[in-house]
Order: sequence, then C-alpha cells, then structure tokens
Amino acid sequence: MKATACLRKEYGALLLCLAAFVFIFVLRYMDNLEFQPKSTIIMVDHQSVSTHPHPHMNRSFCTFQPLSPEDALEERLILDSTAWPETPLLPAPIFLEQTSDPAHSTFTILPGRKGGEWHVGDQLEVMIQTSDFQGRPKKSGGDFLLARLHNRKLEAGVAGQVVDHLNGSYSAVFSLLWEGDAQVEVTLVHPGEAISVLNRLNREQPDRIYFKSLFRSGSLSETTLCDVCLRPTQQPLCNYTDLRTGEPWFCYKPKSLSCDTRINHYMGGSKENFLNANDEKLFQRGVNLKVSIRASGPASVTVLPQGQLKVKSSTVTSGPSGYYYQGVWRALGGTTVHEFSASAISQCLKGKAVHMYGDSTVRQWFEFLNAALPGLKEFDLHSPKQAGPYMSLDYTNNILLTSRFHGPPIRIVVVSTSELRYIANELDGLIGGPNIVVVFGIWAHFGTFPMEIYIRRLQSIRRAVVRLLDRAPDTLVVIRTGNPKDLNLFVSLTNSDWHSLQCNKVLRAMFKGLNVHLIDAWEMTLAHHLPHNLHPPPPIIKNMVNHLLSYICPQ
Ligand SMILES: *[C@@H]1O[C@H](CO)[C@@H](O)[C@H](O)[C@H]1NC(C)=O
Ligand SMILES: *[C@@H]1O[C@H](CO)[C@@H](O)[C@H](O)[C@H]1NC(C)=O
Ligand SMILES: *[C@@H]1O[C@H](CO)[C@@H](O)[C@H](O)[C@H]1NC(C)=O
Repeated sequence: MKATACLRKEYGALLLCLAAFVFIFVLRYMDNLEFQPKSTIIMVDHQSVSTHPHPHMNRSFCTFQPLSPEDALEERLILDSTAWPETPLLPAPIFLEQTSDPAHSTFTILPGRKGGEWHVGDQLEVMIQTSDFQGRPKKSGGDFLLARLHNRKLEAGVAGQVVDHLNGSYSAVFSLLWEGDAQVEVTLVHPGEAISVLNRLNREQPDRIYFKSLFRSGSLSETTLCDVCLRPTQQPLCNYTDLRTGEPWFCYKPKSLSCDTRINHYMGGSKENFLNANDEKLFQRGVNLKVSIRASGPASVTVLPQGQLKVKSSTVTSGPSGYYYQGVWRALGGTTVHEFSASAISQCLKGKAVHMYGDSTVRQWFEFLNAALPGLKEFDLHSPKQAGPYMSLDYTNNILLTSRFHGPPIRIVVVSTSELRYIANELDGLIGGPNIVVVFGIWAHFGTFPMEIYIRRLQSIRRAVVRLLDRAPDTLVVIRTGNPKDLNLFVSLTNSDWHSLQCNKVLRAMFKGLNVHLIDAWEMTLAHHLPHNLHPPPPIIKNMVNHLLSYICPQ
C-alpha cells in the first residue's frame, strides 16, 4: 500500500507542491530539531493559530527512528500545525506575578447581533481578557482556556471554541442549541508559562515516570529500567523494538541474564523533584490550575426560539461535535445518537464481535456493556485486574466482546510480556467484516513524552486500520478521543489536559478522510455538568456507549 494514501486528504494537494521540499524537510528534521520553517499553516486550530513552531527547546535525549519521507513530512506538518503559541520567558523571581491570574481576569458577553437578543441557531461570543496577579492586562497569549455554556436544570451543555488573539485576549464562541437560559463558564486550565514548562519537561525529562521489567531464569532474577527512550549510558541495552510496527522499546540489559529472560512490564514509579519550586507555582489548585474566570457583567443569556433567518448551517462547520440536552448527548454533523435499553443493546450486538483496544478509558465501555447486558457473561481468563485481557460472551445472541490494553508505555500494574501487544499488530490479526466492530482509544499513557512518540504510534495504528479496511471495507472502526480530567500538580506534570488536547488534535488530523468514526470524549466530558475525571462517571459513559451503539446500529 502506498503510504501517501494514508495522508490526510487536504495534504494531497499540498504534497504535490511540497514534493520538491520533502528531502529538505527530512534532512533538516534529522539533523536539526531547532530548524524553524516559515509557518506554513495547514490546519488552523483554534488555540494555536500561529507562530514559532519550535522554540529553542533542548533536544530530547530520545533519538527517533528515521521515518519514510511521507511520514516524516506528515510528522513535521502536524507538529507545526499543533504548535502552541510561544510564551515569552519571564524573569524569575517575579515570574508568577506576571502570569495570568484567573481572579484578576474577566470575560464579557458581547451583544447579540439582533439588538441584544439571542435565538437558537445563533452564536454567542464572549471576550476574555486575562490579567496578571497584579491586575495588569496580559499582552501575550498562550494560556489554555476552556469554555462551556450550560443550563443545569435542562441538563444542557455545550463546549465553546476558544480563539487566542495572542494579545492577552481570547474569544469563546458558543453555538446556541436550546431555548431558555444559558450560562457561560470560562476556566483557566494553565497559564501559557505552565505550557512552556510542560513542553520542556516532555523534551528533557520524558522519564519522570519510569518503567521496569523483571528478568528471570531459574533462580536468577534481576530488574532493570525500561522505556521508549533510555538515557545513554555505558550499560548495554536490550532492544525490544517491535519488528512489525517499528515501535521502539528498550531496557538496560541485566548483568547476568540475557535479554530473552524479560518476563514482565510495570510502572516503576516517578522521579522526585523534577521541577523547581518556582515553576511548581504555575500549577496551584485553587490559584491558577483549572480555576474559573468570573464575568465582568452578566454571565448568562436567555435564548429565544429559532428566528426567521436560518443561520444554523454556519454554526456547525467549525462548531461543537454535539451537546447535551436533558442529559442526553446529541451529536451534530450527521450522526443521530439513540438511547438503547438492555434488550435493544442485545438486539444491536446480536451476531457481532466487538474488539476494544487501548487504555482504561476504553475498558470502561467494556465494563459498562458487561453490567448493562444480563445475557453477557465475562469469561474468566485469569487476567490481572487492570491489565486484562478480558472477554465476554453471550451464547444466546452470539455476542463476543473483548478488551485489551495497548502496548507499552503502560503505567499500570504488572503486565506479562506475553500479553504486551501493539494495537496495530492486533488489528492485523483480524479478518474484519460486517459483524466486526473495532474500538480503540490511546492517549492517557503518553503524557510525559515528546509528541513524536504519539504521532508514530498513531501512524502505525493507521497503517493497520487502512489494511483492515482494504481487506474488509465493511468493518466498523470507532475511535475514542482523550478527555479532560481532575488536575492536581502531579497529574498536570505527567498527564495534563493540555497534552490530551494536543493528542486529540493529532488523532483527528491523522484519521481525517478515513472511513472511521470518532467519539469526542473531550467535548462529551467538557459539556457535562459532572466534574472532569480521567474515568468519566457512568452518566457520561452511558452517553458514549449509546454513541458507539448508534454507529453500530443506525436506526
Ligand atoms: C538546555 O539544557 C542545558 C543543560 O541542561 C541548560 O543549561 C540550558 O539552559 C538549556 N537550554 C535551554 C534553551 O533551555
Ligand atoms: C486583541 O486582538 C483582538 C483580535 O484582533 C482585538 O479584537 C482586541 O481588541 C485586541 N485587544 C487588545 C487589548 O489589543
Ligand atoms: C533496535 O532494533 C531496531 C529493529 O531491529 C533497529 O532498527 C534499531 O536500530 C535498534 N536500535 C538500537 C538503538 O539498537
């Protein structure tokens, strides 16, 4: 299969124009990561409209395998288009005082186009002005803000699209989708300076969470450090790079045992004091970490029924992927989400096999279906809790459900090496067909690494998806995005919402144009009234599963 076939459709035309530059890109990529191309903006992203794609960051000690010219070009384009606006470095020790302070920042609802009236189908625009801890308006952008419009009584909610004007002010744009009150909520997740810190940590200290393996043979056993990339030392390495996917993985070689004697993988722990106290102040709960920004005036509007003027279609083009109404997720852009009773689920899944791959947030769907379907019985594979794999069967309706973790890095309990499988290789083992549903979600274990690691993982998964859809085009493939979570200092530094958001952008870019379906867990969590959680609570999972079932059984 030609690798170009995988590339995003929009890249197709660009590829032709840029073909001549492929070699330049590749050469520059390989010998100098600090190369700053003139910003050719391909995908305009709301929070990252500009600027210098590669600040003078220290090169990671991760040495990335060379890619094919097409993959290298795609990696470059994706890194450029998702580059976060650069935040000017501020001098310590007055560092914190000059960063955005949610308590001093405000948002203002801009007047509606029709003389202060809003109708269903209109857009609501909010201007956000950030200020520092001394109350001085910020002059530069780069802060990470989230916006939501909601009505608790109607159990309605929708995510806003945030635009960074790069001058300290931001816009949040909301689609008005229900009649009645709509309350605006704006949250500072991280000041821009915190994003610079996260970027630096992922370059310089991707091993702040570290992994280990036990090696054993006879009565000898040894434990060594393992990772996607290990710091160069005199110690010899065991190279576990997957020969089929090219996924890198290494352990330091045990002194007295061979590389073949590795029996498991687990998270060793996390380093201490990888951030200085001054930088830690950028991540304070209740101060500048996921803290609400108040309104300068009213924080809500009343939305009237849809007006004569039809403006609805323009709302959806770059708008939200859906919204909640009476607690039920309504997807926008073509898919109708239905609600499924237990018997409707059984009917829908009758004769089907659903294979789920990824992290624990995908396993939640497996667990939800197991609990929802009385006829579905989990088969005891004697798997360790968390690690899996898992399998459930409904003999009467001939339903098979499986769930398996993605390949390393995995930050959980001990996993046997014989159960470590890359999603791409698992997909290659499927015949596919109209009765096969493939679901995957992979994001939560990559938060400490440079984005190249995630891009390459998705490139290998996408190749396998393309092969699967080539041999069985009627296979249904559904992808779960990452979601926002409850943040404290440690979670921010190892698995921040910012990193998840960036992963989602990469995921969208990478699978655009393929016959796959996305479930936007990001917006489904953001728009909901329940608090953000790495593992969203049951009402949100129920909506996600209904969304999945609506792809499997459109009515
Ligand atoms: C790069 O790393 C070195 C050593 O850790 C440090 O001294 C230097 O300031 C860093 N440069 C930048 C631009 O961060
Ligand atoms: C920032 O830029 C936006 C968009 O160009 C503009 O509307 C706004 O007035 C600017 N704010 C300041 C303080 O210059
Ligand atoms: C590890 O193995 C892969 C696959 O054989 C190879 O391409 C790569 O160069 C090796 N890496 C190191 C550091 O030895």
